[in-house]
Amino acid sequence: MGGKHFKDDDAFIRTAVRDVKRLERLAGLTASSRLLDWGCGAGRLAVGVREHFPERRIADYHGVDVQPDLISWARENLTAPGFRFTCVDVANERYNPAGLPERTIAADPSSVDVFYAYSVFSHMNDDDTSAYLRLISEALSPDGKAFVTCFVEEGVPDWEENPEGYGPLEWKGRLHCTRFARSHFEALVSGAGMAVDRFVYGRETDGQSLYVLRPAS
Ligand SMILES: C[S@@+](CC[C@H](N)C(=O)[O-])C[C@H]1O[C@@H](n2cnc3c(N)ncnc32)[C@H](O)[C@@H]1O
Repeated sequence: MGGKHFKDDDAFIRTAVRDVKRLERLAGLTASSRLLDWGCGAGRLAVGVREHFPERRIADYHGVDVQPDLISWARENLTAPGFRFTCVDVANERYNPAGLPERTIAADPSSVDVFYAYSVFSHMNDDDTSAYLRLISEALSPDGKAFVTCFVEEGVPDWEENPEGYGPLEWKGRLHCTRFARSHFEALVSGAGMAVDRFVYGRETDGQSLYVLRPAS
């Protein structure tokens, strides 16, 4: 689901704990945080929260995804005090092509301290990306941070689907790989009312880059 790095159960848990530690370090995650895991899939990050925090929970872990089977699995296996999962029936050409056009991330304004979207903008069209960045910006609390990964490069078209010869895989099917020009993605971030707190090029799954975003002051 998240690429070759998650090919077995150990890697699934290891990457989850690694990301929870990175959220602590880079986005201020604590046991009191309200965390939104957008595009949570089967709830990988929830496993990391449970493994890492001494009381095996935080104030609020909220996993949101468009795939009902994954959310059902997560609800059955990972629901516990402090953990909840929501399925949103919104359109994504790869994961939920028959979904509704109205976009939501299932979060109230200023209600999210830490937002996490791993390998979600790597499968998203340009209009959705722009609109969801605005929704993320609205949902963040004043000191909130968003940790997101995506494919960005210099000197490429603003947005491209399945760029040929790019990255480690042969991209097949709608939105298998969506790549942004770095300047374009950062203009969308800024247009959404956020600023780049940190950028690390190319070290995430399949060569994605990491952004930590914050509300623009
Ligand atoms: C490559 S998977 C990554 C899963 C998870 N973040 C991880 O790292 O293990 C991308 C996920 O994003 C979800 N997704 C795509 N568009 C979405 C949207 N508009 N709202 C919520 N989830 C979405 C997909 O259903 C899929 O589970």
